[in-house]
Amino acid sequence: MNVGILIISDRGSRGEYEDKSAPLIKEKLNSETNWAITHTQIVPDELDIIVETLIRWCDEGVNLLLTSGGTGFSPRDITPEATKKVIEREAPGLAEAVRMDSLKITKHAMLSRAVAGIRQQTLIINMPGNPKAVRENLEFLLPVLPHALDLLVDAQDSEQQHRSV
Ligand code: MTE
Repeated sequence: MNVGILIISDRGSRGEYEDKSAPLIKEKLNSETNWAITHTQIVPDELDIIVETLIRWCDEGVNLLLTSGGTGFSPRDITPEATKKVIEREAPGLAEAVRMDSLKITKHAMLSRAVAGIRQQTLIINMPGNPKAVRENLEFLLPVLPHALDLLVDAQDSEQQHRSV
């Protein structure tokens, strides 16, 4: 499985603060999975840049694309809108379950507008920007991701084999 980590933050992209979310995601995935982290980038909260990056990474073979940041209410938060432009099938259960789990930790979880969905062989999941929230989201999500990715990637492979027979 190839993983992409996309950090979405105006200030982070200008180098005004040190991003702690990408290293945290890397550390967690490296210790708990054997997936390859093939793509990592910080981009500003600009719709066109986010959409272009998501599509390019999907085309380049990323199977799990985790975004962090831009899911809240501030005027520049447009990660869910960019994600919705790119996905072909929604996976609402993931975003709903994460919000429900996060509500046990903080009522502010209801301020996350994160979405999740599938584009071809890529599962895209939005997470908040705060590293604490990222850790909490990942701990909840990780146990279901191997099965989700097996279904997504295997199903596509067998469909392609089926078509080529
Ligand atoms: N989810 C968890 N698990 N833990 C948190 O601390 N913070 C919330 C929410 N989800 C939080 C959380 C807050 S304060 C906000 S504003 C929203 O995520 C959106 O965050 P973002 O704008 O950084 O994407």
